[in-house]
Amino acid sequence: MKITVIGTGYVGLPSGAGFAELGHDVICVDNDLAKVALLRSGQVTLYEAGLEELMMRNVASGRLRFSSSMADSVPQADVVIIAVGTPPHPITKEADMKYIRAAAIELADHLSGYTVVAIKSTVPVGTGDEIEALIHLKNPEAQFDMVSLPEFLREGYAVYDFFHPDRLVIGTDSEVARNTIAKLYSSFGPETKRLFVNRRSSEAIKYASNAFLAVKIHYINEMANFCEKTGADVTEVAKGMGMDERIGNRFLNPGPGFGGSCFPKDTIALVTMAQKNGVKMSLIEATVEGNTKRKQQVAKRILEAPGSGDVHKIAVLGLAFKNGTDDCRESPSLEIINHLLDAGISIVAYDPKAMKVAKQIYGDRIEFASDMYAALKDADVLAILTEWDEFRDLDLHKAAQLMNKLNIVDCRNILNPSLARANGFSYSSIGRA
Ligand code: UDX
Repeated sequence: MKITVIGTGYVGLPSGAGFAELGHDVICVDNDLAKVALLRSGQVTLYEAGLEELMMRNVASGRLRFSSSMADSVPQADVVIIAVGTPPHPITKEADMKYIRAAAIELADHLSGYTVVAIKSTVPVGTGDEIEALIHLKNPEAQFDMVSLPEFLREGYAVYDFFHPDRLVIGTDSEVARNTIAKLYSSFGPETKRLFVNRRSSEAIKYASNAFLAVKIHYINEMANFCEKTGADVTEVAKGMGMDERIGNRFLNPGPGFGGSCFPKDTIALVTMAQKNGVKMSLIEATVEGNTKRKQQVAKRILEAPGSGDVHKIAVLGLAFKNGTDDCRESPSLEIINHLLDAGISIVAYDPKAMKVAKQIYGDRIEFASDMYAALKDADVLAILTEWDEFRDLDLHKAAQLMNKLNIVDCRNILNPSLARANGFSYSSIGRA
C-alpha cells in the first residue's frame, strides 16, 4: 500500500519507518525543510533505539522516502496518516490543534481517488468530526474516510512497540476504511488484538489510557511517601501489588514524577475537556496537582540531603524525562534543576543522550560533564533523576573518592542501598528506609 505520514517527530518517524519495514511504500512529509534535508542525507533527527538501522534499511530498499511537499506525496496515497504534534495550548491548556488543522487544510487539496485519512496524534474527542468537515469544506469533491488510529508507542521503545503493540485501536464507522486499515497491519499475527470502535471512542481510549497510567504513577508515588513514614518498602509493596493480575506489575515504579510529551499534557487536556462537558474528573485533577508538587518535594529532599550541612554543588545524573530517549520535554529532572538553581546551587549534569537538548535549554547556567564521574567531582550531593542503565553500574568506591560530601539521593531506586552505605554514603531513595 502507499502511505503518506505527515509529521516526522517521535510518532511519525518510527511509524513511517515501521510501515516501510512491513512492506508498504512510505513517504514521510514534514514542513520543516531543514529536517527533511537532514533525513534525506541519512541523518536521524531524534534518538530512538533501533531507528537508525530501520530507516537506513528501508531508505536503501526504496520503500521509505522523505518530502516537504504534500502535492508530491498525498495524491497517490491509499492512507494519509497525520502524526503532527498537539502541544498544550498556552492559554486554554487543551491540546493545541493548529498543526492538525494546518495539515488537514493543506492535504485536502491534494486528495485524489478514495483515501483513508487517519489521525495518529492524540486529539480531543470529536476532532475526527471537525477535521472531516474541514477537509469537505476545503475540497467538496474529495472522497475520503476519517479514521482515528491512536498511537500507544513509548519513547525509547518506539521501534519495539511499533512491531509489538498490545493492541490496535481503529476508530471509524466506515467498513471500507476499517478494511483498508486492517490491510495496513495485515502482516501482524492474530496475537495482536484489533479493536474496531467508533471514532469518538477511539479518541477517548487514548486519553483514558494515558491518564490511567499517570494516575497509577501518582498513586505509587503517594504510596512511597506513606512507606517512608511507616517503615514499609515501596519496592516490596509494588511487587506484592503487581502480583495481583487485576492490578498488574507495570507502571508501579516510584520516582520524581511523570514527565514527557504525553502524560503531563494529556492529563491536563482531559481535565479541561471534561470541565467543558460539565464533568468533574477529580482523580485526574489530583494527579496533575500531585505531580507538580512532587518535583518541589524531590528538590527539597535533595537540598536537605546533607542534614544541616551547606550544599554548594549538586551533581545531577539524568536529564531526559526517562531512560532510552534524548527527550527533555516536561522532564522532572529539568524542573528539579530549576528549583535547585533558584536556591542558588551550582549544578553539574550528565546524561548519556540528552546533553545536546539540555544545552540548548540551559546554555551556561549549568555545567555539563563529559561523563558521570566528571560530574561527581567536588559535589556535595549526587541526585539520580533518570534511570539510565549506566548509572546502575556506578562505581561507588570511585564516586566516594571524587565527591566533596558523601550524599546520594537516588530518585529512581537504581543503586544498591547497602553498597552505597558500605562506601560511606548517606543514601536516600524513594519510598524505603
Ligand atoms: C507514554 C505512554 O506510555 C505511551 O503509551 C503513549 O503513547 C505516550 O505516552 P512515554 O511518554 O514515552 O509514553 O513514556 P512512559 O514510558 O509512559 O513514561 C512516562 C513518564 O512516567 C516518564 O517520566 C517515566 O519516568 C514515568 N514513569 C513511568 C514512572 O515514574 N514510573 C513508572 O512506573 C512508569
